[in-house]
Amino acid sequence: MEYECSGNAKGDPRVVRSRRVRLLTKIVSLWLIMLWLVLALGAERQERHPSSNSARPPVNGPTAPDFPLGTATPSQLCGTCHEAIYREFAMGFGSDLKYKSIIYQSPQDKMLTVPAQVSSTATLHALSGLDPFPVHARGVEEKGESCNACHFPEAFDIPDLERVEIAKPKARPREQEAAGLTCASCHLTPDGKIRGPYEVEAPHQTVADPKMRTSAMCAYCHAMGERVVGKQTQTFLEWREDFYKPGLGRQHCQDCHMPRTLRKSSDFEVPVRAVARHLWTGGHSTQRLRTALNLVIVQAEEGRPDLEFHAINIGAGHSVPTGSNRRSVYLKAEVVSRGGKILASREWMFAPWYGDRPDDRTFLEEDKKRPDAVAALQADAQGPHEAPIRAGEERVLTWAPKLKTGKYTVRARLIYDLNRYNDRAFAGDQTELYFISLSVYVKGRWTLIEQRRRCEDTK
Ligand code: HEC
Ligand code: HEC
Ligand code: HEC
Ligand code: HEC
Ligand code: HEC
Repeated sequence: MEYECSGNAKGDPRVVRSRRVRLLTKIVSLWLIMLWLVLALGAERQERHPSSNSARPPVNGPTAPDFPLGTATPSQLCGTCHEAIYREFAMGFGSDLKYKSIIYQSPQDKMLTVPAQVSSTATLHALSGLDPFPVHARGVEEKGESCNACHFPEAFDIPDLERVEIAKPKARPREQEAAGLTCASCHLTPDGKIRGPYEVEAPHQTVADPKMRTSAMCAYCHAMGERVVGKQTQTFLEWREDFYKPGLGRQHCQDCHMPRTLRKSSDFEVPVRAVARHLWTGGHSTQRLRTALNLVIVQAEEGRPDLEFHAINIGAGHSVPTGSNRRSVYLKAEVVSRGGKILASREWMFAPWYGDRPDDRTFLEEDKKRPDAVAALQADAQGPHEAPIRAGEERVLTWAPKLKTGKYTVRARLIYDLNRYNDRAFAGDQTELYFISLSVYVKGRWTLIEQRRRCEDTK
């Protein structure tokens, strides 16, 4: 392994020999694991269809797949040869990832957290089979049905980058959930080969697919259906329509979410090259979140309490927040007296809509008749709110608090929330993204907006 042989030890014949020995051990142990998997699967099949035995391909014959468990192949198996990538995937090496325990709704609920022996700094892809949040949500909101599609999919073909409508992936059977989202989920083709960005020689069948380096690789699970501005499950479409096509940037998902480094992609005698880090930092990374938005406070006119808050998407190649309807960003503003007393406050929420219309309490009765009533109700019950801030967008929010003549400090914060549906007082799943303040001087009581309204009222 590259990171173990430092400096001049590299050419040392003992080191080379011990690496060979380790390699040999790995190959042999892998062989045994694969053999075991094939035999185990064969035995299982035989139990279910005893008569089909003769139709079964011979074990390790020319048609035997390298990975008979398909996308349920444990990632540890790939990790025996691709150790550096596995460390990133399973332990978050090189990131500030942190799984934040959440409560589903009220503080009385049990804390949803990853099992004790699992690294809380793993990537969300690696955690997905163990992440109690989607599993719990599925139980409560969908009676345990049909949510496996993106969370535990079967092998799929990478869709075309231009595809208008993104189909839902096919779900793995329930009893194969535990492995979660695996290396094979992304790398295994439906015909059982391992796809990657390069033409390589490997101990498994490989196929070079240039789409691996494009956003098409992420489209299947990070978007669903057609583009609806503001809706959930739109990340890939937001990227394509708002960011990539208008020319805001050339980066594909991997360029931001899988930064590359020079190394060997496996522990064999293979060339050093640019290999992507398997980290996918997002809502569970403070470093990532803080690059997304910028905030500026403006006093629109001297002496007037007409305030503007400019929230600008400077760093994401899609809307913020994106993806799951559970995510939100709050903009909290307050006016503070010179003595430090909070005189007025105001809050906005930016979040994806659950359905294809802005959330609205007026739909609650209709929601009750839907098959996905629980999820629709919890979304619409929050009432209308700000749509997510699109790639490159500058959103301006205005506020005119009533203030007497005097000097004040206006403070504003952006706060990210992993679960906007639980008790707001629970801050364990929140991250402060931005804090800014502005001193203002206000003369007189009424704002311009109010003066205008009063004039209109008296007309
Ligand atoms: C969410 C999808 C996804 C998962 C899960 C995933 N990969 Fe990858 N992997 C990619 C993408 C995309 C690339 C190509 C990145 C690039 O260079 O743009 C890649 C590249 C690679 C490469 C090629 C390196 C090279 O450049 O030759 C290897 C090897 C690899 N992954 C192994 C693994 C292993 C092992 C795991 C599990 C520990 C894993 N991957 C999990 C998406 C994934
Ligand atoms: C016995 C060791 C071994 C195991 C186990 C193994 N690989 Fe590999 N793999 C290799 C070697 C060696 C290469 C060639 C690497 C190179 O040339 O950089 C490779 C190459 C790759 C590539 C790059 C392909 C390309 O076209 O760029 C990917 C992706 C990959 N493996 C994924 C996986 C996944 C996913 C698993 C588990 C399902 C896995 N590997 C299991 C040894 C292994
Ligand atoms: C096989 C489906 C699948 C593919 C393909 C896939 N993802 Fe994911 N991704 C998921 C799921 C499911 C989650 C959420 C897991 C959870 O929270 O339990 C996720 C989570 C993430 C997160 C972390 C979100 C957080 O809350 O921290 C990022 C970032 C991400 N994916 C980026 C990507 C990128 C970039 C690609 C393409 C290289 C990609 N994903 C490909 C299914 C997928
Ligand atoms: C220009 C850099 C950039 C590009 C390109 C980009 N992202 Fe992101 N991504 C970010 C930033 C910054 C965040 C954090 C803010 C947020 O959550 O929206 C983020 C967050 C995410 C999250 C976390 C959402 C969550 O709920 O935790 C996912 C998932 C994600 N991106 C997927 C993708 C996918 C898929 C693509 C390609 C279609 C992509 N990103 C392209 C910068 C980028
Ligand atoms: C189109 C693919 C897709 C489908 C279908 C899907 N999910 Fe997800 N889910 C994702 C992705 C991708 C993420 C990662 C976060 C993001 O994009 O914001 C995620 C994240 C989540 C989260 C947040 C977990 C966290 O990391 O905090 C929950 C909860 C969740 N999904 C529940 C469900 C439920 C319940 C269903 C069934 C109704 C479902 N999902 C169906 C793709 C999907």
